[in-house]
Amino acid sequence: MKHLLATDGLDADTATAVLDTADELKHTLLGREVKKLPTLRGRTVITLFYENSTRTRVSFEIAGKWMSADVINVSASSSSVNKGESLRDTALTLAAAGADCVIIRHPASGAAHRLSGWLAGPGTAVVNAGDGMHEHPTQALLDAATLRERLGSLKDRRIAIVGDVLHSRVARSNIHLLSTLGAEVVLVAPPTLLPVGVEKLPVTVSHDLDAELPAVDAVMMLRVQAERMHGGFFPSAREYSISYGLSERRQALLPDHAVVLHPGPMLRGMEIASAVADSPSSAITEQVRNGVHVRMAVLYHLLASEGAAA
Ligand code: CP
Repeated sequence: MKHLLATDGLDADTATAVLDTADELKHTLLGREVKKLPTLRGRTVITLFYENSTRTRVSFEIAGKWMSADVINVSASSSSVNKGESLRDTALTLAAAGADCVIIRHPASGAAHRLSGWLAGPGTAVVNAGDGMHEHPTQALLDAATLRERLGSLKDRRIAIVGDVLHSRVARSNIHLLSTLGAEVVLVAPPTLLPVGVEKLPVTVSHDLDAELPAVDAVMMLRVQAERMHGGFFPSAREYSISYGLSERRQALLPDHAVVLHPGPMLRGMEIASAVADSPSSAITEQVRNGVHVRMAVLYHLLASEGAAA
């Protein structure tokens, strides 16, 4: 693997190899007081974030440090980006300074892809940590890792992705990865929060959450992305919560084995009731924990495995 830019086009063998490595790393580190492996000693990993993040940035930093890489965090607000430096010049500067891998989050869809083109010369690996409304591949991989742990396999499992699908890079990455791994995906959303061209995606669509819940193995609640709704939020927050929020009443409609996921950050009380988010069916904390191992696995496959870029 040279870069990780999207799950659209990521084949099942490569995705499974990353998930298997994450699982192996998790078990290797389980119960260890010092979680440090020498795998990436001497390698430099730079996180370059143009948007806010807690989970993704921190877990990439921990992942790199647990593998002994030197990890440097650059945020747009405290870098020369604030003086008007372009994304291209910033990326080439980081590569010239010695980055083996740049992990980028950017509000523009396609930014990670552009970066991978500019960094082809220096041979720097690029990871997409979320580009606009396009993709967030490591989130989908950690979601798949969590579902594999809870459900055993994703083959023929029915997964509902619920809420603001239109603005969600998490939804897009999960649609591609989950279907590649053999799951059936149903999108449950109001018509106003579904993307144009949804009929071309490997999904079915529903507007009735109550009708879908009894037949799913997992339900993935999405964050409502108010910051991307420049024309206002329709339906209103109250209508959204009534029709698409995962309340305790709705949780009772799920099969006993069903898993509840949310990528975070959560709007408790609107997208998901606190009692549901904190219930035994919820795997939200495990998603965060698995995020570290999955990101370690991604760095391993990019920088240290036989198939890694030279
Ligand atoms: N799920 C996710 O991407 O969270 P952060 O925005 O906190 O990184």
